[in-house]
Amino acid sequence: MRKSENWGTRIGVILAVAGSAVGLGNFLRFPGQVAQNGGGAFMIPYFIALLVLGIPLCWAEWTMGRYGGVRGFHSSPGIFSVICKTPKARYLGTIGLLIPLIIYMYYVVIEAWCLGYAISYLDGSLMPENNPGDYKVFFANFKGVNSDGSLLTAEHSWFLGVLFITFGLNFFFLYRGVTKGIEAFCRIAMPIMAVLAIIVLIRVLTLGTPDPTKPDQNVIGGLGAMWNPDFKKLSDPKTWLAASGQIFFSLSVGFGVIINYASYLRKKDDVALSGLTATSMNEFFEVCLGGLITIPAAFIFLGAVATDPNHVGTFDLGFIALPEVFARMPLGQLFGFLWFFMLFIAAITSSLSMLQPVIAFFEEGLGLKRHASAAILGLISMMGAGFVVYFSKGTMALNTMDFWIGTVALFILAFIQAVLYGWILGTEKGEKELHEGSHIRIPHFVQFMLKYVTPVFLIVIFVMFCRDNAVESIASIQDEPVAKMSIMFICMIFGFLLLMVHIAGIRWEKEGRFDHLLEEEDDD
Ligand code: PFF
Repeated sequence: MRKSENWGTRIGVILAVAGSAVGLGNFLRFPGQVAQNGGGAFMIPYFIALLVLGIPLCWAEWTMGRYGGVRGFHSSPGIFSVICKTPKARYLGTIGLLIPLIIYMYYVVIEAWCLGYAISYLDGSLMPENNPGDYKVFFANFKGVNSDGSLLTAEHSWFLGVLFITFGLNFFFLYRGVTKGIEAFCRIAMPIMAVLAIIVLIRVLTLGTPDPTKPDQNVIGGLGAMWNPDFKKLSDPKTWLAASGQIFFSLSVGFGVIINYASYLRKKDDVALSGLTATSMNEFFEVCLGGLITIPAAFIFLGAVATDPNHVGTFDLGFIALPEVFARMPLGQLFGFLWFFMLFIAAITSSLSMLQPVIAFFEEGLGLKRHASAAILGLISMMGAGFVVYFSKGTMALNTMDFWIGTVALFILAFIQAVLYGWILGTEKGEKELHEGSHIRIPHFVQFMLKYVTPVFLIVIFVMFCRDNAVESIASIQDEPVAKMSIMFICMIFGFLLLMVHIAGIRWEKEGRFDHLLEEEDDD
């Protein structure tokens, strides 16, 4: 067996997991969700989801990841097989490769938008003196929403260049490996992100009342626009769904990425406190920074339109409302650059975590060397990103992938993980594993939650979700050829991964990789 990689330092792994968690979800998705779902009142379902789903599942992923890693596996097909003590369980693990891979295919495109905007601030082309026109129209052209294939024209060739640079950077760090690439980058990137976000936050909170003719549009009003609670929203199941979805997306829980990162820990490395620390860091970035920047800033300059449903969509807020704000703000060009550059770094630390599980699988499942794995993954993910970029009309491919993989499949994987931890590994063994080398003691009721409450809560929200969305979503696929194609594309990738996982299992069995696990059972 090849010598497996390990994280260099404890703070390194915490920053890498936090880097995966802190991303566009914190700065763009979260404020939009809060503003649309009851302001401050949203924080009630949000914190419940954090306590019932986010933190327990995060501990379960850290524990199962280290458990599998110590036994020689780093990807969910291998780790699930180890936990279930049968190589057949690897097929379930395929979904832990599919989700991060498909998400990468569109996340990298949005990442490139951020870099594209950062460059456009650097050269001033997004500033009013250079007449970028209406920011809404600018953004629509930028992402090619008007017609399929429009991003492949000569006029947009620079965006393709930006996309290539983004791809190149991701693969550069990935190729350098877990310690020298991902960990080294996250150790530098996380503090830079924090400093940049705090600079932008201070700028927003010191804006006062920039337009004396509109005295209501001030900082306090901005904070109110975001946070004033609307408790009526709590009786709407959609609010609860949105809160759970946000917790998953933001913490990177249920995607198969934490399980992979945790598999590079050593047997005695702490997981309990590390998991909690990474989660807390994510919450700081989300609530304290993400929650205080975009909507307050947009309200101060644009007024109530900032929280109008047409403006608070994940991307519109960041790419339309904020450029309008920077256009009116003193030193707007500088702050515009800092903001989009910060978003870009936040996105890279997240997208790296989407690629690593698949690389790990190619290496351990197919016996490929790192450069061959990276080359194959590069090719597949480029095909996917190409698909998203080509079918840009109405951002249809992106939205379809985000809905079916970023929302629906996510619940399924989270459920599988909860069952694996609570019922297959068993909470008794799980609790012992979780406390191996741990710096804190986790109350016993968390085990009870993982076994009963988390899976039931997941089923309830999933059923509610299907009831609210299923008919509508399936109908919309029938009318939309691109949506249909996107689903076919996802199925094709899934089929490919299943085949690879099948082949990997044959190799593992031949090599006798599971034999000692059965002996271990006798020791238990
Ligand atoms: N947690 C990231 C964010 O908040 O932007 C998004 C993300 C990262 C999703 C890693 C999925 C993933 F595997």
